[in-house]
Parts: sequence; structure tokens; C-alpha cells
Amino acid sequence: MSSLVVVGSQWGDEGKGKIIDFLAEKADVVVRYSGGNNAGHTVVVGEEEYKLHLIPSGILYGDTPCIISAGVVVDPEVLLSEIKYLNERGISTDNLMIDERAHVIFPYHKSLDILSEQRRGSEDIGTTRRGIGPCYRDKTDRMGIRVCDMLTDSFKEKLEGNVAFQNKLIRAVYDSDGFAFQEMYEKYIGYAEQIKKYVTDTSIIVFEAIKSGKKVLFEGAQGTLLDLDYGTYPYVTSSNPVAGGVCTGTGIGPTMINDVVGVVKAYTTRVGKGPFPTELFDEDGERMRTVGHEFGTTTGRSRRCGWFDAVILRYAVRINGLTSMALTKLDVMSGFEKIKICVGYKKGDIVLTEFPASIEELSKCEPVFEELDGWNEDITSVRSFDELPENAKKYVSRLEELCGVKASIVAVGPKRDQTMVLK
Ligand code: GTP
Repeated sequence: MSSLVVVGSQWGDEGKGKIIDFLAEKADVVVRYSGGNNAGHTVVVGEEEYKLHLIPSGILYGDTPCIISAGVVVDPEVLLSEIKYLNERGISTDNLMIDERAHVIFPYHKSLDILSEQRRGSEDIGTTRRGIGPCYRDKTDRMGIRVCDMLTDSFKEKLEGNVAFQNKLIRAVYDSDGFAFQEMYEKYIGYAEQIKKYVTDTSIIVFEAIKSGKKVLFEGAQGTLLDLDYGTYPYVTSSNPVAGGVCTGTGIGPTMINDVVGVVKAYTTRVGKGPFPTELFDEDGERMRTVGHEFGTTTGRSRRCGWFDAVILRYAVRINGLTSMALTKLDVMSGFEKIKICVGYKKGDIVLTEFPASIEELSKCEPVFEELDGWNEDITSVRSFDELPENAKKYVSRLEELCGVKASIVAVGPKRDQTMVLK
């Protein structure tokens, strides 16, 4: 690898944190390219468990430069508390870099996130209410405040203008309380002072690193079906977690990317609202949730669970240009007598093999399943593909066949060493 993108292939929560952590060992630079602290990676190192929302997981390796690039939205309060959390646990953040073009989350963004979700009532998107969407909205509305703006004299004027505007919006549309400018300004000037040592033009660092043959790992957050353009709109995030987001988010051209690994959970999960064709409401789904600990890292919300959906995976292969997959949580599939795989969607008399754009159409789709025999063995101690039970091997091979990419990694537990490299 000289540059490798790791993306979520389903609805996020595929276990990207663990795969990124595993691959980060060999990386010279790790880059987070989209989203904000609405992501949540859980990484287990030895007996320690780390929960990271904003800082790239590569930070756990100590001397690996870790970059929060321009495509990320940064809540400085969260950033500083994450730095403190790591430092208190003996992890250095000296190699952290934050791009000066990254947009900044302010308290009014969080407030607007909550108010807009409340306004939607039962039709709410299910956001993490961390202000991510409103921050990206300001960015596209050309009124956002970037990290570099916080470090210049014009910050006061910019923030004052924004607070006045957002207060009007909050009061007029939502009939809610606005924010005091001075207090917010002083708080953020304090944050700027603390983060300025990390701030730089990270696009140059990434470009130079790739040019000089260093290994750069681009760490995805969320997943393909949460992508603003290619996900199950409107139940999506406000950025582009797909592999294409690396170029715009990091400020490098597509010719600089070599490989794209899709992290794929051995079954399907989804948080929040929206259609989910293979969702299970029975004891099989409950088993996946319990055995797989399917509760959100960021919100603690219980995740909806269902069988593996190959229609989604084929879509992810195409949209991201996946070169291989990292299959996670295969261990959770132990103990099912029969395992189902969705190979197409039945809609009326026709069978769709491509993922539809409209969620209305998706909600009318019935999964077409094929059934494989399961296995009973606990596979969490297995360390080579050949040692897996025959039916587990057959399951992996069938997924590869249906999705059109090979598995390069198979994970059978949350720990670093519960990971097999296949090629
Ligand atoms: P987002 O960026 O928010 O989408 O998160 P993520 O993709 O990093 O996934 P998240 O950390 O929310 O969930 C993955 C969970 O599964 C974590 O608790 C991991 O420790 C755990 N995990 C990862 N791989 C495996 C695996 O192969 N088997 C089991 N049993 N657990 C795993």
C-alpha cells in the first residue's frame, strides 16, 4: 500500500475502528477525511478499550502523524476533550494535525440540529445532534467559519454576524432562546489558543507523503449508505463518507489513491430511521444485537439488525471502487443453524439486483434470500482462514462471489490479534 482508503460499506458501524487500527500499524500517516464527532470508533488494544470520535485511530500508535483534514467539521470542545482523554491514558497527541480549512462547529449548530430534529417529529432523521448537519449547511451557504478564521483578527466580526443571524433563525423559526455572543467568542478564542499548535495546511503533508512513497491511510467514518449523495437520502449524514470524499476532503487528486478496502460486517445493521430490507424482528435479530453488542459508540442507541445484503455490497463495490473487503464480526454468525443472504429485491413481479435511489421504492422491496448452512463452533480463537469451519469458509466465499470482491481481511473478534490477513 502507498495510499489506502478504508470505507464503511453498509450503514456505518461495520467495525472500521478495529480495521483502521490494524492497518494503521503499517501506515506512515493516517487521515480522517469527512464527517465530525458523529462517528465513533471503538478500538481495543490489549485490555484497554478506546472510544474515538474525531481523532484518527492511528493516534494509538504514538508516533504516527494523524490528520484531521479539511473535509471534517471540528467541534473544538470535543477535540480538546478527546486530546485530554488520550493524554490522560498515556497516548501522545504531539503528531496530531488539523487542517486550517476545516469548518468549526459552534453551539448554535448543535442547537439547530436538536431543534430541526424536534420539528420533524416522527419523521426525524435520527442525527447524533452534535451540530454536524447545520455546520455543513453553513459551509455550503458560504457563511461557515473555518479553523483558519478562528486564528485571525476577522474572527470576532465573523462570529458576531453569524450569532446575530442564527439567533434570529432560532427565535423566529423555532421560538427558542438564542446565544450570547461575547461568552461564545471568549470560549472559542480560548479553544483557538489551545488548538493552534496543531493547525496546518494538511493537504501539503498528505501530497508530500504520497509523493515520497510513504504509506498513507485514509480513515473513513460512517458508511456508503449514509453518504449525502449515494446513501438512503434523506436518512443520511451531511458529508461524503464514500471513497470519492477522500479527494475533496483531503485536497488530493484521484490518481493518488491506490487501494480502497471496504469494511463489511458479516450481517447488516442500521441506526436510526429509514427502510432496511433485511431487517429482522425475531430472535435471530436479537441474537445478532446481543452477541454483536450492537449499541452505538456515540449515542448508545440500540442498532437494528438483519441478514447480509449482497445488493448493498455490490452497490458499495461500485460506488467506492472497492479493491477488496475487510469482513468483520464473522464470529457473531456462529450458532445460527441456517444463515440467509439477500441476493436481490422483489418488487411486485420483478427482482431488482441494483440498489434503488428512492427510499419509497426501497421500502417496497422484499428481500430474496438464499440460505446456507451455519456452523456452531466458536471461531474467536481462529487465526488462519484454513482453520475456520467449512461452513464459515463457504459463507465467506459466497459473499465474495456475490459481491465481486475478495476478502483481504477477516475479523473474528474486537481485539487486534483477532484478525486474519488473506492476501
Ligand atoms: P463508525 O465510524 O461510527 O461507523 O464506527 P465503526 O465502524 O468503527 O464501528 P463501531 O466501533 O461502532 O462498532 C464496532 C464494534 O464491534 C466495536 O465495539 C468493535 O470493538 C467491535 N468489533 C470490531 N470487529 C469485530 C469482530 O470481528 N468481532 C466482534 N465480535 N466485534 C468486533
